[in-house]
Amino acid sequence: MGMLEIKNLSIHFGGIRALNGIDLAVRDNEILSIIGPNGSGKTTLFNCLTGIYHPDEGDIIYQGESLLGLSPDLIAIRGIARTFQNLRLFMNMNVLDNLMLGRHVHMKKNIFAAFLRLRREELRHRERVEEIIDFLDLQAYRKSRVADCPYGVQKRIEMGRALALEPKLLLLDEPISGLTSEEKEEAAYRVTEIRGRFKIAIILVEHDLKIASRLADSMAAFNYGQKIAAGTPEEVQRNPEVIRAYVGEE
Ligand SMILES: Nc1ncnc2c1ncn2[C@@H]1O[C@H](COP(=O)(O)OP(=O)(O)O)[C@@H](O)[C@H]1O
Ligand SMILES: [Mg+2]
Repeated sequence: MGMLEIKNLSIHFGGIRALNGIDLAVRDNEILSIIGPNGSGKTTLFNCLTGIYHPDEGDIIYQGESLLGLSPDLIAIRGIARTFQNLRLFMNMNVLDNLMLGRHVHMKKNIFAAFLRLRREELRHRERVEEIIDFLDLQAYRKSRVADCPYGVQKRIEMGRALALEPKLLLLDEPISGLTSEEKEEAAYRVTEIRGRFKIAIILVEHDLKIASRLADSMAAFNYGQKIAAGTPEEVQRNPEVIRAYVGEE
């Protein structure tokens, strides 16, 4: 079943058409990879999906309802979480607290006062966070300040922060970029594990064509804000326009 349908989505910044008539669909429990050179509109798509940018045209239908006009918090409550290419973590706080904050949309208003008082609710949040810490192998770092963790670990914490929200749709913005080759393999494996374990759909934005193809059920390629190809990873990788876009970049 379709959980997300993006129809004719467009947005511009001055003279730049960052997204131009994008159509995409994501099925339940699917991994959709979006590839494309730098500046092709991948992150902009995530910003539209999460209510940070408001598209000029088109619609975003999530679980049968339009997301247009909803605030980022309301979209998060509906179950869409994301990671940021440039990590959005509280660098001076420890790992555990960063993940707890990832759950903020599930907490009552005046979260801090409330969640200190509400033992039972706090326990539920902690259980979920502990599950994520185990899943992402972060036990050794749980009380470490994020700033003191290696970059590869920070990327994992960023993923954990998004998972803490208990999303139904997870948007991963280049979760593999900047990692060592060993970490890349781990991160790639983890993406498929997330889908299996949490039974959620994932949109994976990834610059690396090979890794994106390997992980995806279906794939789309962007160039200059346009969708230049879509289909199975094999089809997209073979597409002459995709090859040209990537060769052109080098
Ligand atoms: N807030 C903004 N203001 C101006 N230009 C923007 C803004 N956000 C994105 N863009 C432009 O939109 C284009 C697509 O950017 P982006 O989505 O970040 O690309 P990608 O993630 O594929 O590298 C780029 O030309 C970028 O400079
Ligand atoms: Mg980007």
